[in-house]
Amino acid sequence: MAEHTELIEILNEAISLEYTAAVQYNQQSTLLSGRDRMLFEDFLKDSAKEALSHARMWSSRIVYLGGIPRPEVGGIRQSTDAIEMLQFDLEIEQRAVDTYTRAHRVCHHEPTRYMLENHILDEDKDVEEIQKLLGRVRPRELGRIEERLAAAHR
Ligand SMILES: [Fe+2]
Ligand SMILES: [Fe+2]
Repeated sequence: MAEHTELIEILNEAISLEYTAAVQYNQQSTLLSGRDRMLFEDFLKDSAKEALSHARMWSSRIVYLGGIPRPEVGGIRQSTDAIEMLQFDLEIEQRAVDTYTRAHRVCHHEPTRYMLENHILDEDKDVEEIQKLLGRVRPRELGRIEERLAAAHR
């Protein structure tokens, strides 16, 4: 057990992030109104479920590694604006990538390393998706097409 102390500590930070994300997503899904409700409700509800399943998965892994999971929900950031909600979610997902990456760095248990590798990809997918929802990822070609259209209308 002692050999995994640092890893267990970081995984505990990660499950706290997951519980925080689960509650935050769940709360957000109930606050949406108007068109945003149609646009984002399913995404937020699915994200809440996913974060809870991650908390469960890593709690079990902590037990397997000889530790005790510490279930703590961190501060929930509130907003009634869908874009601001997604910005708060993006920050949590980025912290998840960082936290699992730190866990991977100190992990000397081979199967858990593979789990972490897969999981970092999963969390990065969430970062990618939210950045796209926020319009922060724009294909270069699209930018050029828009420039050409704008020029044609001048
Ligand atoms: Fe997660
Ligand atoms: Fe995530």
